[in-house]
Amino acid sequence: PRLAVFVSGGGSNLRAIHAAILNRQIQAEVAVVVSDVPHCGGCQYAVEHGIATLAYPASSKTLVNGRQLGVTTEKLIDSLSRQFEVDYVLLAGYLKLIPEELLRVYKRAMLNIHPALLPNFGGKGFYGSKVHQAVIKSGARFSGPTVHFVDEGYDTGPILAQAVVPVSPTDTAVQLAARVLQEEHSLYPYAVSALVDGRITWRPDGVPILWTAS
Ligand code: GRF
Repeated sequence: PRLAVFVSGGGSNLRAIHAAILNRQIQAEVAVVVSDVPHCGGCQYAVEHGIATLAYPASSKTLVNGRQLGVTTEKLIDSLSRQFEVDYVLLAGYLKLIPEELLRVYKRAMLNIHPALLPNFGGKGFYGSKVHQAVIKSGARFSGPTVHFVDEGYDTGPILAQAVVPVSPTDTAVQLAARVLQEEHSLYPYAVSALVDGRITWRPDGVPILWTAS
């Protein structure tokens, strides 16, 4: 199977997924990296590793040397499905909402990773260090990443997998973020490998079940 990975930031999850492909934990390949921030760490990694990149959406951020780099949603869908023959889409620190037209094409084939235990501490305002600040402030004793299928909301789609890390009352957001991120780097490849192997089934009530590789 062929993957598109959407990034806006450092791209450490992209690196973890790519590493898992290279060591054969994930039986797939990264066909293209899509980003709204053309010079982000994730894009640089893609360029260094000979992975194709695509700027999306067209916005002021994708203006490079006065030139508009971004593609329209229609063009993006066409590129993903025809040019790059993408089977699955992975959001890895991509901060823009996914338009419905794209969701329709990749229904039950698009995952996101969020750095807290959904359904808590998710939604439009919860990104970056704000998530971890809110977790610490709540007095929660545990946090951890969530991998979920993407629907039309922010962080609202069906939950596929979670991992748990302890939260100390003396944690800073930076410390907690690092602890959660480290867990993301094993949880996301674990979930992606199940997705591309066809080891996910759907209960009639819309809950995804992940089957461990035998
Ligand atoms: C991760 O914490 C992820 O959960 C969130 O954005 C961050 C991306 O980090 N959605 P990176 O760009 O993969 O390093």
